[in-house]
Amino acid sequence: MTRIFSGVKPTGHLTLGNYLGAVRQWVAAEQAPDEALFCVVDLHALTVEHEPARVRRLSRQAATLLLAAGLDPQRCTLFVQSHVDEHTRLAYLLECTATDGELRRMIQYKEKAAKAQAAGDGVRLSLLTYPVLMAADILAYRTDEVPVGEDQRQHVELTRDLAVRFNQRYGHTFTVPEATHPAVAARVMDLQEPTSKMGKSDANGTGIVYLLDEPGAVRKKVMRAVTDSGDGGVVYDRESRPGVANLLDVLAACTGGDPVRLAADYTGYGALKRDVADAVVELLRPVRERHAELAADPAQVDKVLREGAGRARELARPVVDRAYEAIGLLAP
Ligand code: TYM
Repeated sequence: MTRIFSGVKPTGHLTLGNYLGAVRQWVAAEQAPDEALFCVVDLHALTVEHEPARVRRLSRQAATLLLAAGLDPQRCTLFVQSHVDEHTRLAYLLECTATDGELRRMIQYKEKAAKAQAAGDGVRLSLLTYPVLMAADILAYRTDEVPVGEDQRQHVELTRDLAVRFNQRYGHTFTVPEATHPAVAARVMDLQEPTSKMGKSDANGTGIVYLLDEPGAVRKKVMRAVTDSGDGGVVYDRESRPGVANLLDVLAACTGGDPVRLAADYTGYGALKRDVADAVVELLRPVRERHAELAADPAQVDKVLREGAGRARELARPVVDRAYEAIGLLAP
């Protein structure tokens, strides 16, 4: 049996990037007879400047959206990270396994630390240790596969390194996990800045399609997407034509096509953008509608999360206890 774990952090409203890069794979994964756990990783939202009430609101909204996207609590375990203490218990042991150097090499740390410094904010220590907590999220469940977007590849690599190192030093404790990525749209780019990832925490929302955007807003954002100059028609080239390649990737992901082949169907950017807008609106319509129904009954969502945390705790507890023993701590 393959065990799957993945998570999303409530630092902003979920985006089309989150959906195509990750959430849609989760919904597909839970159809297989695997054990699947999905987590709103709220502790990770505290690594940068945050507003307490907003994090709480976004945590429930993210959980509601995951259910709206099709996660079925009968087939998977959906929970909030801070409800299961095992994550932070294990994170400390992994901090004693990781080195300062390997954490400072993380691309996301370098980018986010630079951004915090530029804004005059202090860089929280937890921003540096964040990938260790992420490793704990994954390793606490003896996870085999981690379905994520391309931007999480380096963090999952670190998780693998820590698992191997811990197992070699203290005896076999953790499963060494693998990242899995979707075939297309593993890295959806910002519509206004197609050389940057579409990120939910980014301040300027005009290049970001949010899952809860009204159809009119989705159309406007897609129709205003930055395309590339050049008279070579519509071609798929991520290096020299990142804007058009991004639109083709999104269209391919929505329609199940191939971005290179789809390019041949178009002679101009206008028709391509119209088709992308239609495809995204139709893709998101059922998610938005289901979200409205579920959001009307937050107590039901909270119940799902409570039960999920119970199940997650049962799975993680023995693994983390085993790690405490293996590393040399006296049993209580
Ligand atoms: P987060 O919250 O930034 O993103 C959640 C998931 O969405 C994917 N994603 C994208 N995929 C394609 N294109 C994009 N533009 C895009 N933006 C985001 C991410 O790759 C991710 O799969 N560190 C993680 C959260 C985390 C986690 C974990 C994930 C914490 N612990 C354990 C897996 C396992 C993060 O910040 O994701």
